Amino acid sequence: MIVGGTVRVPGDKSITHRALLLGALARGSSHVGGALTSLDARSSARILRQLGAEITPLRSSAVVVIRGRGRFRRPEATLDCGNSGTTTRLLLGLLAGHRFAATLTGDASLRRRPMRRVTVPLSRMGARFTELAGDGLPLTVRGGALTSLSYEMPVSSAQIKSSILLAGLAGEVEVALREPHGRSRDHTERLLRAFGYDVNEADGWIRFAPTGRLESFEMQVPGDPSSAAFLIGAAVLAEGGELRIAGVGVNPTRTGFLGVLERMGAAVAVEEVTEHFGEPVADLVVRPARLRATEVLPGEIPGLIDEIPLLAVLAARAEGTTVFRQVGELRVKESDRLGLIAANLRAVGGTAEVSGDDLYVEGRREPPRGTVRSAADHRLAMAFAVLGTVPGARVRIDDMACAAVSFPRFRETLRAVARRGAR
Ligand code: S3P
Repeated sequence: MIVGGTVRVPGDKSITHRALLLGALARGSSHVGGALTSLDARSSARILRQLGAEITPLRSSAVVVIRGRGRFRRPEATLDCGNSGTTTRLLLGLLAGHRFAATLTGDASLRRRPMRRVTVPLSRMGARFTELAGDGLPLTVRGGALTSLSYEMPVSSAQIKSSILLAGLAGEVEVALREPHGRSRDHTERLLRAFGYDVNEADGWIRFAPTGRLESFEMQVPGDPSSAAFLIGAAVLAEGGELRIAGVGVNPTRTGFLGVLERMGAAVAVEEVTEHFGEPVADLVVRPARLRATEVLPGEIPGLIDEIPLLAVLAARAEGTTVFRQVGELRVKESDRLGLIAANLRAVGGTAEVSGDDLYVEGRREPPRGTVRSAADHRLAMAFAVLGTVPGARVRIDDMACAAVSFPRFRETLRAVARRGAR
């Protein structure tokens, strides 16, 4: 495959969820351009409407208008979060500060994902939870008057961190948090600062005092670096050409994968950097490269957690054995990503294994051939679709439709990148 041209990727998923949540809580009309319109973003919008916000339909290239009322109102039915862990965990934080009961559920994948990681700290703040099926969904939250919290998080996770920060916001109490190793994405902190709230960081602690005022806002969501990563991967594996991906968010808590790619021999140029709403945005320019193996260390993991499936398929094309250290968190993503990355690499003829919480991937030259089980996990499906672009590859993916969870029109975009190069 030869790549070429300039493409854009859909809006950032993490920032879109946060913009929808904060817009629904603010009083008045907020305007969000470039919002992601994927299934996960629609789950957030649907639920926020049930909680009393008016939100215009999420359509690509349309500005989303959110009319919030300053507080949520009691929902009449169960809130279905679909496949979206971010919707669930961030919303639990906001609902903890509201004096009513709400029940949350989700699809089969989401119902299995751990929720005690947020309900434990939120309970300490004063919210009450009724588990209807153990540590997962469905779950009922009863919010109320909250007390402030100082909390050392057991895992570095932006969802846990944001849930607690948003509980502080809705409950108007101070919170202090510490992440164990490596910083997770900090979009919530940046957004709160953009609203004038006091979020300061010192000695490894994040301290948030709900001193600001949530006003309606106008913002433009940058392209999602996690979606751009798949196109970057395809360009790195291509036989020639150069690809520019315009308007991508390059927040340093999201771009850990660029550092790993550089160590593997694929330098991605970051050009035309601008800033909007506290978030840096840039064009990424990438060319094919010969890859070599690397070691990805525990402290790097939170900054590239969603890019590990893609980095693993690239490692399968690199010279030598790549190790991803301490990636146990992948077991509780949309699927058991750790086990499935290794199993699927083996299913297409590669060598990969999990040892404890480490993932080992050996590179090989022969083209990958076989059938991949995506387990309806969007990032697994897209990563293996990228591997399937290697010359001579024959990779069949059992369910590719799940890409719509985060990247609408993924297949068309991947094809467009290639076709444009071939012309
Ligand atoms: C997200 C945080 C990450 C990431 C997810 C989105 C967010 O999860 O995997 O896709 O928007 O806060 P964890 O924070 O649980 O690692």
